[in-house]
Amino acid sequence: MTTKHFLQALNEEFAQQTYGENPPELYEPIRYLMALGGKRIRPLMTIMATALFTDDWQKAVKPASAVEVFHNFTLMHDDIMDKAPLRRGKPTVHEKWNENIAILSGDVMLVQAYELLMEVEDSRFKKAMKRFNRTAAEVCEGQQLDMNFENRTTVSEAEYLEMIKLKTSVLLGYALELGGIIGGASDKSCDLLYEIGINIGLGFQLKDDLLDVYGDPEKFGKQVGGDIIANKKTYMLIEAIEKATGETQKSLNYWLNAKDFDATEKVKAVTGIYDTLGIRQLAEAKINDYFDKGLDALSRLKVEEERKTELKAFAAMLIDREV
Ligand code: IPE
Ligand code: IPE
Ligand code: MG
Ligand code: MG
Ligand code: MG
Repeated sequence: MTTKHFLQALNEEFAQQTYGENPPELYEPIRYLMALGGKRIRPLMTIMATALFTDDWQKAVKPASAVEVFHNFTLMHDDIMDKAPLRRGKPTVHEKWNENIAILSGDVMLVQAYELLMEVEDSRFKKAMKRFNRTAAEVCEGQQLDMNFENRTTVSEAEYLEMIKLKTSVLLGYALELGGIIGGASDKSCDLLYEIGINIGLGFQLKDDLLDVYGDPEKFGKQVGGDIIANKKTYMLIEAIEKATGETQKSLNYWLNAKDFDATEKVKAVTGIYDTLGIRQLAEAKINDYFDKGLDALSRLKVEEERKTELKAFAAMLIDREV
């Protein structure tokens, strides 16, 4: 079975899911955001992980969809926090409706994620739920750190890595681990799956940050430059702050402290500074390092090699992605 089959099964699952009717303001945004699609990488990872251990991967589809609904809930709230105008090439929920609607729709999505997770069979449910709860709390911790860092002048690389591990990687780790739990993998294999997901997740968020600066606005589907506008302490900005000297340093400080500025001008100026300092190449090397670590952990997983083909190809696709 290939990723294409898994995606097809997932899309059929999402097509038949209903989210509720009244009041429409509560449920319509869920249908809107879910229908905008996205890459569906997390539920695919869950199904792929189950398929490492059993041919009966179908039983992972509903619980996998729980991970995707949870992810979409975090996006709805993240876009409020990040003041993001665009998601998947369309207006964000708080822009199209309003912030209160985005808060409440997001809340009810979290409940629906729990509902879907209950499809994990009884003997494996408790572990799946316990790990889900830990992960969900960690995502909140990461999101709070992300917010805190916007207002700090310096953030270390280690602090940044911890922040993205929490806000992003733990969910990719959980996605794989959940697949292992459903597939009946040993605790040791589940831990290794989590480690694979954590490393792929770090590479994934580093790439997300890179695309936020260098992505093609036509393809990316989000506002390019949003992180620069908000002074997000990304790996790229942290490296730039450390490497800049003389006029470059002065200019970077000016833009980081500017209160009243033209967004387009700031994005252009800071991107120019990254270019001067060779920050893109540094970030690309770092992205490759983490994906390599993930693949190295995958090579240690005690599963027939041919079963790993899909997951390996999937990781390669994530490194090269433009969306
Ligand atoms: C966006 O995730 C949020 C991050 C953790 C970077 P994705 O890039 O997976 O978003 P979709 O679901 O494909 O739109
Ligand atoms: C998102 O990080 C992490 C979560 C949604 C938990 P970002 O803020 O970088 O994600 P995008 O770029 O808006 O998708
Ligand atoms: Mg964010
Ligand atoms: Mg965001
Ligand atoms: Mg981002």
